[in-house]
Amino acid sequence: MKYYYTLIVILCFFSCSKKEQTQNTASGNNAQKYEEVINELLSKMTLEEKIGQTNLRGTSSRAKTLSDELKQDVRDGKVGALLNVMRTEFVDELQKVAVEESPNKIPLIFARDVIHGFKTMFPIPLGMAASWDADVAKTSSRIAAIESSQVGVRWTFAPMLDIAKDSRWGRIAESPGEDPYLASILGKAYVEGFQGDSLNNATSIAACAKHYIGYGAAIGGRDYNTTVIPNSLLRNVYLPPFEAALRAGSATVMTAFNEINGVPATGNKYLLKDVLRDELHFDGLVVSDWDSVIEMIAHGFATDEKHAGELAANAGLDMEMTSKAYEHHLKNLINEGKVSEAQLNEFVRNILRVKFRLGLFETPYIDKSNEVNFYTKEHLSEAKKAAIKSTVLLKNTKVLPISKQTKIALIGPMAHAPLDQMGTWAFDGEKEHTVTPFEAFKTAQVNFKYVSGLTHSRDQSNTQFKKAITTAKEAEVVVFIAGEEAILSGEAHSRSNIDLPGAQEDLIKALAKTGKPIVLVIMAGRPITITNIIDDVDAVLMSWHPGTMGGEALHDILFGIIEPQGRLPVSWPKTAGQLPYFYNHKNTGRPANKEDYVAMYDIPIGAWQSSLGNDSHYLDIGYTPHFPFGFGLGYTTFSYDAIKVSKDTINFNEDIIVKATVSNTGKRVGKEVVQLYIRDVVGSITRPVKELKRFEHVVLEAGETKDVTFTLSSKDFIFTNNASVRAAEAGDFDVWVGPHAASGLKKSFYLQKK
Ligand code: NOJ
Repeated sequence: MKYYYTLIVILCFFSCSKKEQTQNTASGNNAQKYEEVINELLSKMTLEEKIGQTNLRGTSSRAKTLSDELKQDVRDGKVGALLNVMRTEFVDELQKVAVEESPNKIPLIFARDVIHGFKTMFPIPLGMAASWDADVAKTSSRIAAIESSQVGVRWTFAPMLDIAKDSRWGRIAESPGEDPYLASILGKAYVEGFQGDSLNNATSIAACAKHYIGYGAAIGGRDYNTTVIPNSLLRNVYLPPFEAALRAGSATVMTAFNEINGVPATGNKYLLKDVLRDELHFDGLVVSDWDSVIEMIAHGFATDEKHAGELAANAGLDMEMTSKAYEHHLKNLINEGKVSEAQLNEFVRNILRVKFRLGLFETPYIDKSNEVNFYTKEHLSEAKKAAIKSTVLLKNTKVLPISKQTKIALIGPMAHAPLDQMGTWAFDGEKEHTVTPFEAFKTAQVNFKYVSGLTHSRDQSNTQFKKAITTAKEAEVVVFIAGEEAILSGEAHSRSNIDLPGAQEDLIKALAKTGKPIVLVIMAGRPITITNIIDDVDAVLMSWHPGTMGGEALHDILFGIIEPQGRLPVSWPKTAGQLPYFYNHKNTGRPANKEDYVAMYDIPIGAWQSSLGNDSHYLDIGYTPHFPFGFGLGYTTFSYDAIKVSKDTINFNEDIIVKATVSNTGKRVGKEVVQLYIRDVVGSITRPVKELKRFEHVVLEAGETKDVTFTLSSKDFIFTNNASVRAAEAGDFDVWVGPHAASGLKKSFYLQKK
């Protein structure tokens, strides 16, 4: 009875104050009231119930029945949140048990990996990053939230904000790429989209900034591998996207699987308490990754499950995903004085705060007032827009755009691969709704003939080659849709060789012999090394895994209805042996240059050891990527001119204005992503050779010229050095404005301390 009374008081308070709750994070009086109610609840909870709140129980989304055991655990207050309950009737039933029968009637949160769309699939996150467009990212996560909240999901494990510099790493597919500035802009946008104007809106879902932290720095690009990240690198590269997501109000954070400098992220007190709570003032909930608590045993950091629980608890981990170290041992650990009850209370506070912010105490059930709408016209149109904005044109010897009457041979294992086109993390997307290039061509009545040539991306047989070659000979242009199946990227799906798998290169080479122009389209979860075939094809379009509307987007691009608009969010390697490669690297003491570089096969036989110029390069592939970060062509051309800086010397409290003129020198309207990079020439620790600091999308008519203006201040030059000093340093700076990281007009200025 007394629990029931408490709940009524809580509900009354929250329904009365609903209008005031317009922010994702409550502030002022509201925040204080939340805390009072949470404390009141805490005072009524037993140790077991508190531990129950820290339990994120995994279930199978394919389960056909609801187990009595799970219901009983919810009834007993042993579960705080559930993952992958995907039947609405189960969601409602479990929530009913929680809010009507559990000891303190605390609602559950239902979680799901809604990563790049729920039903309507958007391009994979690396593809979304290629849009360089915060609006596109925000719209995609808003739509994902609208669709998934309709089946009861109120918590997603996205956005993934791991900086990724190694295309071998399978999870690069889910990453925002290699640049902290771009990743920060996207991270903020995703959070805003998922969480909407207010977290307690029925269509808002809690975001989860993951994986905190350094997961993308896995040595050798092998998933889950060890990372070594000095504090300065952590703060200058890996942390900024998380800071941006937290500033945008991300309700939750997930710890990473990896260890950093010898300490697993899930048991890392420095990262979870000192940085996340004390420095960044995060007051939402921190959840582990799947079993990452007990994986500290395999890491060699914890002796057993109990020790793993102790380490995670004392590090400050609020909620444990799927493993049961807290459930099994936290009570004893507290009784033995190894973990304090105050610490557990803190976890429960963090968890309940998120539940309050989500409005779950007030409206725990799925909002059925709106009709369930997946794949709406608007959602599909936004997904198509996103696919167009993320497609990167890497090469074009004037074969694109193709005129509508052209006779086309559509070939390749990804031309009609509705499941694979959705990419990794597409659990809820249905392939029946995917529009493949084949289907888009059919609907648009393109003059084409289709032969897959290879049944899937790993197909090694050449039995269909003959048919493909005959079809190519009968056509005017070959559109070859190559790539990787979805299963070849994503979690635990790293590759040591990132060429096109199977017999795809062989087939492309065979087709090239027909003399027909070839447009190579790549659908993949990562950059694919195409050094072996680049000269055999006339155009290359990177579609990533483009999602539900990829086929229509590609159709419009190929036929010039619209131009491809993406820019690379990662440097594109020539070979996997060059990885990790990233544009914002440091200089060596012997930076490579064209003059000193002698390619391997040009070295004279018996050459004197030091006669070739000792600088930092590979004999076989040099020192540059195949395509630089930020690169992407369109259907027109641009020129840059007249870069100016407002002053040659600025003080710390002054802005500097950088201006350049950009002209469309081609024959059609086009969009350029104008990019500004800086170099801090000398620092108390060495600084990257270039760092992206601003970019702007500029649309210009044929022949049109525009001034593009950027404003920078000393805040943009702040970094952390090895003495943990975080500041901008006086000295020389270079600034470039241009189309990508390897090109641009340059100016210099001096930052002076007065
Ligand atoms: C493991 C992944 O690393 C994480 O990103 C995901 O959210 C969880 N599994 C839950 O599926």
